[in-house]
Amino acid sequence: ATVREDYISEETKKLISSLPVNKDSQGNLCKYQGCWYYYNTLQGAINFQNHFQPQDTDVILASFPKSGTTWLKALTVALLERSKHHDDHPLNHPLLSDNPHAIVPFLETKLYLRTSTPDLTKYSSSPSSSARVFATHMPLHTVKEGLRGSPCKIVYMCRNAKDVLISLWYFKCKYQKLEVTRSVLESTFESFCGGGNFYGPFWDHVLSYWRGSLEDDPSRVLFMKYEEMKEEPCVQLKRLAEFLGVPFTEEEEESGCVEKILELCSLRSLSDLAINKIGKTSSGPDYKLCFRKGEVGDSKNYLTPEMEMRIDMIIEENLKGSGLSF
Ligand code: A3P
Repeated sequence: ATVREDYISEETKKLISSLPVNKDSQGNLCKYQGCWYYYNTLQGAINFQNHFQPQDTDVILASFPKSGTTWLKALTVALLERSKHHDDHPLNHPLLSDNPHAIVPFLETKLYLRTSTPDLTKYSSSPSSSARVFATHMPLHTVKEGLRGSPCKIVYMCRNAKDVLISLWYFKCKYQKLEVTRSVLESTFESFCGGGNFYGPFWDHVLSYWRGSLEDDPSRVLFMKYEEMKEEPCVQLKRLAEFLGVPFTEEEEESGCVEKILELCSLRSLSDLAINKIGKTSSGPDYKLCFRKGEVGDSKNYLTPEMEMRIDMIIEENLKGSGLSF
């Protein structure tokens, strides 16, 4: 699985020649606005920045890869879709017939990857509501350039670095059809700790949204944690619903709507659906690779105490003084 580079404009090539560059087993990377991109993804990010036309009601779901993006997409779709009375026709629910990534596309790696004028009309969350929902792995300052001052809502899902790393390792092996070995873990670990990995450094990514959530108007950037979603799902789902402007009514709460959404979006339910067992993206991985264990602290089973200590120190050092901790 080598990253293609055949649709990069002359202008972007010129830009790349002025940027720091790096390489990994999948392709060439360059550092743009403090974040590492494969060249084709950089083209997607630039297309987005130059051509996206935001609507004030847009919702942007952001995350570092393997932080719970699929879950956040599913929860957001389920929250925004619930006004459509799927209870009457439960099988009509989009999450039952499509993978969350097909419903909420990534801006830079899907919509704007090869074009500056993608057709965005089909991505409203429902024909009756005007909110469009998009996703991104770009850091906040890069996303904001494409938003041009529009007050779109941005939700960030953050997850602890060690579990992200283990999830990345597994995903990388499965996606590239490699054996899941310690040697791949070690190279993924080194590149993660060095910060030169795709969308890295991890800590700068997280901090861009953390600071944004503190500095911006609180109705603009919502900072969520995967661990908190697991720990107190009802509280966090209600928090997300309020932020999105679709709070639960008392009747909904009494009728178990919160729990129903959590159940629909649970790893177990989603991964059990036919579409997620056998479906795949046009260019990307099989949908089943989106789902693994979904546990907090799984990294304990794989990282040596030395690896844990090193990553803990790097994270602590970089988050020092920010008020954010894992
Ligand atoms: P693990 O590899 O630790 O199991 P992303 O969606 O950002 O790619 O993140 C993938 C991680 O989220 C994987 O973690 C995956 O199992 C987990 N995940 C996927 N769907 C989930 C869901 N509905 N609920 C909780 N975790 C989920």
